[in-house]
Amino acid sequence: MSGSVWRRRALVAVVLMMTSVLAGCGLRGAGQPGGAGSFTIRFSHVVTPSTPKGQAATKFKELVEQRSAGRIHVEVYPNSELYGDGNEMQALQSGAVQMLAPASAKFTTIAPALQVLDLPFLFGSVQEIPKVVARDTAAGRAIFESQELAKRNIRALELWDNGLKQLSSNRPMTTPADLTGLRFRIQPSDVLRSQFEAWGARSTPLAFAEVYSALQQGLIDGQENPYSNISSQKMHTVQRYITESDHGYIGYLLTINEKFFAGLPPDLQRVVLDSARDSAAYNRQVSERLNAEAKRTIQQAHTTEILTLTPEQRRALTDAVIPSVWRQYENVIGKDIVEELLARRGGR
Ligand code: LMR
Repeated sequence: MSGSVWRRRALVAVVLMMTSVLAGCGLRGAGQPGGAGSFTIRFSHVVTPSTPKGQAATKFKELVEQRSAGRIHVEVYPNSELYGDGNEMQALQSGAVQMLAPASAKFTTIAPALQVLDLPFLFGSVQEIPKVVARDTAAGRAIFESQELAKRNIRALELWDNGLKQLSSNRPMTTPADLTGLRFRIQPSDVLRSQFEAWGARSTPLAFAEVYSALQQGLIDGQENPYSNISSQKMHTVQRYITESDHGYIGYLLTINEKFFAGLPPDLQRVVLDSARDSAAYNRQVSERLNAEAKRTIQQAHTTEILTLTPEQRRALTDAVIPSVWRQYENVIGKDIVEELLARRGGR
């Protein structure tokens, strides 16, 4: 082979390599008028566009593209279509995607302290959520000052939420005894495993995209999620009962690859930060309404009975996990944080 063919091949290889490196960094091409580059943010998530997270992602895209006057292009990939629970964290760290918004439980391996948000009955109602997770609270500090995330090139911008989780299965469940022997799908969090253990149930971690078919095939008996996730995944069509337990929280860490963020010019960093903040406000506005609508959709489908708990039944479920499960994770979450949260609840 002649020297010039080798040189041409080497040049093509270098160009391809540079293209994929630039794609990994989200850089679309430099040299726009004014000397500024333009950037692409690939934003992957696992739920449908109709859910509180899906709608907040769309809002974030609109705000960023408008405020950056097109210098940042945001591509949103819903429904695990680009990356799912099994590979999205790796994709974020390597820069194959620039942004994600996984539920906090999905960070358990990377940042175990974030399991603070999985503590059962952490919130008495959705109205308490913003106060408890504000940046200057124990839970807020665990999220926004996480060294484990920083070490892995991940910056948490905001917390979006999807309200509180309900229990579903094919058995009516109002007391811990009703859960005995059932197998629930969980997100990969030890706190969630211990929660179900304390109720006498078993659990299996499973990717979100697999939950519907696992329920349909009877590989698991039940699961826990807010109404919007149950309805948008049609889980209610394969679950005869939902207990309105409001026992757990689904909060999403809106995260960005730190290297990508640091490589943005300061004015575009501001656009990203402001749009993250405003999409979080939007998410809080829509989350409660979307979950209420999803509950109505489930009721109208007449496939599933929704059971409400008496104060005594709720207390029995709570007493089985607080303080025992909370204390079990003091060393993981931080003793001071657990103490602060327990004190907030009046010691239980
Ligand atoms: C789940 O896995 O159940 C949820 O985290 C899915 C989601 O992103 O709401």
